[in-house]
Amino acid sequence: MQDAYGRTIRYLRISVTDRCNLRCRYCMPPSGMPDKLGHESILRNEEIVEVARVAAGLGINKIRLTGGEPLVRKGIIELVAQLAAIPGIEDLAMTTNAVLLDTMAAPLKAAGLRRINVSLDTLNPERFKEMTRGGDLSRVLKGLEEAERVGIWPIRLNSVLIGGENDSEIRALAELTRTKGYDVRFIELMPIGEAATWTEEHFISTDRILEVLPELVPDIAKAHDGPARYFRLPGASGRIGLIQPVSCNFCADCDRIRLTADGKLKPCLHSDKEIDLLAAIRAGEDVAPIIQQAVGLKPERHHMEESDYVPIVRGMYKIGG
Ligand code: GTP
Ligand code: 5AD
Ligand code: SF4
Repeated sequence: MQDAYGRTIRYLRISVTDRCNLRCRYCMPPSGMPDKLGHESILRNEEIVEVARVAAGLGINKIRLTGGEPLVRKGIIELVAQLAAIPGIEDLAMTTNAVLLDTMAAPLKAAGLRRINVSLDTLNPERFKEMTRGGDLSRVLKGLEEAERVGIWPIRLNSVLIGGENDSEIRALAELTRTKGYDVRFIELMPIGEAATWTEEHFISTDRILEVLPELVPDIAKAHDGPARYFRLPGASGRIGLIQPVSCNFCADCDRIRLTADGKLKPCLHSDKEIDLLAAIRAGEDVAPIIQQAVGLKPERHHMEESDYVPIVRGMYKIGG
């Protein structure tokens, strides 16, 4: 599938739930979710599989499951197994907070999950509790160990940098590329969701990483891959990735569309434009033209860096990053 700007769309991100077992301050409102989706408004497993099957027929070869937290969705293991069986899906991945991985890694691996990206912003138990409003870091670390043990690999960590909070941990997080062999990706905080109203000192540029880690060298094999620019610490088997979603130097290579838990196709993360699939699929209509329509509506780029940018309405926990 080609969009109006000649980009080939191969990557479908599927948010399977808006619920989460953590309450990260930059993502969730303090009161939790004011507008939880009801059961009827969420795509059922067989509906997600139907969309994925049609999308694979149109050229999608990579699927990532996101949330909220995908592992809190009932039937997630069965969903992974069904998606893994679709011909043409070469890469099946998940973005998770890893809290439930200690018990779920083995069945996920058996179901066909290839790899995971784990959102982890700090290695300090107290700070973790503070940033996630009550989360237990030891569960995440156990989850990571278990995932590695059962062979879910590579493991990538996503760390959102927040000034005055975890920006003192850049080196500690980066060392995991040596001690554990994970890829560690530092993400600039985006002014969306709860962070839309945060003051400037919370926003840290990934240039800070290059200052704190002057020994980083660009990764020769794949300096650019999706949203990240990759580097390595000397002697590290894992890579350091820098993700700068605000300056958006990867829109030109964008290959993705998104499906939300309530059955809307989002052509771009940073646009409020949504195309309803849920009604069509429940009416027994063919979803292929709707997927093609969404691809056709992909904007050339986002405008987050511009002064008159209006943050999107949908919170991050309802998009999945
Ligand atoms: P890989 O397949 O491992 O490369 O993962 P990924 O980067 O596609 O997915 P992940 O869920 O780990 O996303 C990491 C971060 O990249 C997100 O938190 C966002 O900050 C950023 N990101 C992902 N997709 C987009 C996008 O379409 N636009 C922008 N601006 N940022 C994005
Ligand atoms: N800015 C940048 N990244 C964010 N995420 C959630 N909210 C934001 C934000 N405002 C990240 C999560 C997760 C990924 C899917 O999106 O930390 O790693
Ligand atoms: Fe693609 Fe929109 Fe993300 Fe840019 S902001 S990479 S165009 S989805």
